[in-house]
Amino acid sequence: MNNNSEWIKAGFVTDDVPAKINLVEEINRIKKEKNAIIMAHYYQVKEIQDIADFVGDSLALAQHAAKTSADIILLAGVLFMGETAKILSPNKKVIVPDLNAGCSLADSCPGDEFEKFVKQYTNHVVVTYVNTSAAVKALSDIVVTSTNAVGVINSIPKEKPILFGPDKNLGNYLQSLSGREMVLWDGACHVHEKFSVEKILELKQQNPDAKIIAHPECKKPLLLLADFVGSTAALLKYTIESNEKEFIVATEAGILHQMQKASPNKVFIPAPPMDSTCGCNDCEFMKLNTLKKVYLSLKNEFPLVEVDEVVREKALIPIQRMLEISKELKL
Ligand code: 13P
Ligand code: SF4
Repeated sequence: MNNNSEWIKAGFVTDDVPAKINLVEEINRIKKEKNAIIMAHYYQVKEIQDIADFVGDSLALAQHAAKTSADIILLAGVLFMGETAKILSPNKKVIVPDLNAGCSLADSCPGDEFEKFVKQYTNHVVVTYVNTSAAVKALSDIVVTSTNAVGVINSIPKEKPILFGPDKNLGNYLQSLSGREMVLWDGACHVHEKFSVEKILELKQQNPDAKIIAHPECKKPLLLLADFVGSTAALLKYTIESNEKEFIVATEAGILHQMQKASPNKVFIPAPPMDSTCGCNDCEFMKLNTLKKVYLSLKNEFPLVEVDEVVREKALIPIQRMLEISKELKL
């Protein structure tokens, strides 16, 4: 079957996993049989990260999707990551194990409203964060991720005004780093906005040697407090290269798995959110993917990520620009 509607017309119902099946062995077997690749974001549950052929941040996932020779890409992440892979590799089947894995940041920026916004600033360069729908990318001049955003902004001629969306926290951070004025869309990630500065300061009092590290989707007061700010890949690299031994990590808690694996003798403390007694902060969209869903979706080649061809062709241009600039910046 080549698309979701063929599956649905055929009366497909997600079947259950047979008892006693070894999911890891089965996934590896099917992957080989179908020439499929599993690519996972750092926020996935650890069992998925451990079975993946490739684990990375949004930029690395896009770069890898553009060059893989696999016939099927199973993107264990959220929908915009699957869409980016499909835009770059339209002839491959791209699977996201649970298509309900959305993103609050992407949802904060509906395509039709963003189009009206963009039309008010026709002489601006439209720069959008990769955490958007394909429709929003199709309205953009350049896409960025948190790994390359500063480099991309600096590559835009000084005299050109910039419109940035949808993340106002990342946008503010980029304005302060680059010194560029930007028109900002008013969007945010609900996971990164809910870290509690108070609780982080308490943790710092209890662990005075710990470095506070944060993702740029966090609010300004937390970013000002942080010893290091960066994308998931940059945070991981910082913890590996640093001589420090303890870190308070203000991003989604899934990244701690790779941090701990890479530096088993260091201590990683998840930063807590405001509204919970739980000590860490999970993205409920990322966590919709499970090992069982990876198995079922790979076995059934369902659900597939589908992007309208007209939208895809338009969205490809700003993504390719981002990949070219990243190459020049050696990212
Ligand atoms: P990274 O590109 O830094 O991995 O960020 C993705 C994301 O969704 C952060 O919330
Ligand atoms: Fe989107 Fe936030 Fe989840 Fe990242 S952590 S996928 S920005 S909702």
